[in-house]
Amino acid sequence: MANNPETPIGLDEAVLSAKDLTVTFPMGSLWSRKELIPVNHMTFSLKKDEVRGLVGESGSGKSSVAKALTRIYTPTHGEMRFHGENVALIRGHELKRYRQKVQMVFQDPYSSLNPLKTVRQQLQRPLHLIHNTRYSVDSLLEAVGLSRDLQYKLPYELSGGQRQRVVIARAMALNPEIIVADEPISMLDVSIRASILSLMNDLRSRYHVSYLYITHDMASARYFSDRIMVLYGGHLVEIAGSRELIRHPSHPYSQLLLAATPNKRAKKSALPQKRYGAPNLWASQKGCPFAPRCLYVLDECYVNRPSWTWITRTHGVACFSRGTIW
Ligand SMILES: Nc1ncnc2c1ncn2[C@@H]1O[C@H](COP(=O)(O)OP(=O)(O)OP(=O)(O)O)[C@@H](O)[C@H]1O
Ligand SMILES: [Mg+2]
Repeated sequence: MANNPETPIGLDEAVLSAKDLTVTFPMGSLWSRKELIPVNHMTFSLKKDEVRGLVGESGSGKSSVAKALTRIYTPTHGEMRFHGENVALIRGHELKRYRQKVQMVFQDPYSSLNPLKTVRQQLQRPLHLIHNTRYSVDSLLEAVGLSRDLQYKLPYELSGGQRQRVVIARAMALNPEIIVADEPISMLDVSIRASILSLMNDLRSRYHVSYLYITHDMASARYFSDRIMVLYGGHLVEIAGSRELIRHPSHPYSQLLLAATPNKRAKKSALPQKRYGAPNLWASQKGCPFAPRCLYVLDECYVNRPSWTWITRTHGVACFSRGTIW
């Protein structure tokens, strides 16, 4: 993309910022090399105490963004700055320190925990690792709304919601500044999803943690996030404040996502799609990644990648056909 999607709010104020962040995976055989690009020149920033939503359908590259930001994946191209320092390629001790500050919470709390260790053992380890005197096992359990008695239990003895609370407590034990939460509620019972988001919100105000909240569900993104980024085919296609995005989605893909959301405020005129197709992440893909599914597609959309247009100071969209859809 030609221009920088977050220039209006400034990359400088960011705790963590990504500039042209790209992750590629070489695929195929020696004779027919292909490249998959789940994170394609993404630029955005995360401010202190902010909850940033990242929404997109399955296969759009959400987890790859999360793994790049937590440096499970090494970016192939671009910058990632943490308090101004480029952390895209750091290694060894520096990387270890960075990973303490940017924690990840995964979708499945059961597989995130060691099944053979008690809650107490799983929380003690990170506390000892960084000689954390700010918290104890008891205070961590209290912070995530669990009773102290649970510390002697094994993961299988806990409910899904309790397990995810333990996972969050374990992340908090490392005094993180950022938690990258990759669909943290999607495997939980519907009845307890809101309570986990409310816990995360509570931790944000008490301990000043910022979140990248990854979900395929616009309703929860709206509920929990200050700003939302919409991802399609490894590309960011729209960024806006969450209320603004829900009220005035400008990219046809954002409108489609909202149409699939059981939400009274979803735009009533939300569009159907031209045809269904999974996002194309191959390097050979040209133009707008959403073009094959877009009802408002123009010839240009198949050839060039749309650059960012700022509708307001904080609402950006990458779409050529915006004249048609607004
Ligand atoms: N380590 C890897 N090696 C090769 N391909 C990968 C790797 N990690 C991710 N991919 C591919 O990148 C694409 C995007 O995957 P990703 O998991 O980031 O999507 P997602 O948006 O998180 O999907 P979901 O909602 O299903 O979790 C997929 O086609 C996936 O197969
Ligand atoms: Mg995923």
